[in-house]
Amino acid sequence: MIIRPVRDSAADAAAVREVAAAAFGSPPAPERREAPDAARAVRAVRHEARTRHLAVTDPQGCWLAEDGGRAVGAALSLRREDVWLLALLVVDPAVQGKGVGRLLLQRAAAHGRGCLRGMLCASPSPAAARRYRLSGFTLHPAMQLRGPVDRTGLQDPGDVPVHPGGPGQLHLLDSVDRRLRGAAHGPDHGFMLAHFEELLVADSLAGSGYCYRDGGEVKLLAATSKRIAVRLLREALARVPEGTDALVEHLTAEQEWALDVGLEVGLTVGTRGYVALRGMRPPVPYLPEGAFL
Ligand SMILES: CC(C)(COP(=O)(O)OP(=O)(O)OC[C@H]1O[C@@H](n2cnc3c(N)ncnc32)[C@H](O)[C@@H]1OP(=O)(O)O)[C@@H](O)C(=O)NCCC(=O)NCCS
Repeated sequence: MIIRPVRDSAADAAAVREVAAAAFGSPPAPERREAPDAARAVRAVRHEARTRHLAVTDPQGCWLAEDGGRAVGAALSLRREDVWLLALLVVDPAVQGKGVGRLLLQRAAAHGRGCLRGMLCASPSPAAARRYRLSGFTLHPAMQLRGPVDRTGLQDPGDVPVHPGGPGQLHLLDSVDRRLRGAAHGPDHGFMLAHFEELLVADSLAGSGYCYRDGGEVKLLAATSKRIAVRLLREALARVPEGTDALVEHLTAEQEWALDVGLEVGLTVGTRGYVALRGMRPPVPYLPEGAFL
């Protein structure tokens, strides 16, 4: 078996996606119900684009394990200022439990050498939890909110204006990121702007913040106060298309402001995976994006 850098190529991006599909297997029933063929195709295109984006921005952070020319594992990680972030760690089920995940994580973590802070969103996999804790991460159990949005709770437009945003606001977004998690998202905002349905921004004397929405999913939310964060989340949920279930993920206990918004509009709370952090407490108010954190 060899471990080599992921190249910015269609073939490597497809190989990473195929190993990830095999590793994660069939999604749980509620997610399967919501993923018709067209949605799956969009996800596949985005997955491959994300791999290529990271292979370009972080060539030393992205690794592929191959056995006899066949991809059997992958790790994608990124470094933004002084924070190391793990976007993906997957091993083909046929070779799991043989140390491939440990080797891939070691290679990816070397990219973050010198970073005092680390973040990743971990799946519920016990093997993953073991690997991350043994790598020095603190595991914060996470909740998710899911279901149809009860719009009767969203009639009040709120006192802080929220507007659709765009590339002209990248400095603002990076400033909010630095305040919240200690590092800007930098080039990852370009990716998210291109691939997610909309960016919502609040910027007033009361404070600043932003979130992305993609269909029913609220993907990333950062704000300088809970009041702004609540306003952004309510606005994002109000804009979820009729007939589409909302999904808000990666809420640790620190994000009760978001839990309360979700309960208020009738979403169902469940637990799923962990937000794993090293050298930092959970940023608040903050909902990480699974790959770019
Ligand atoms: C998580 C994953 C990448 C680990 O890869 P791997 O090659 O199986 O990992 P390793 O063999 O290096 O290490 C797995 C460790 O977990 C342990 N382990 C495996 N199954 C376990 C279980 N059910 N409960 C507890 N520990 C378990 C192994 O003993 C090993 O620990 P050790 O090396 O200290 O003995 C792989 O299992 C996977 O792809 N899972 C599905 C996708 C996923 O959830 N990825 C993580 C996303 S955050």
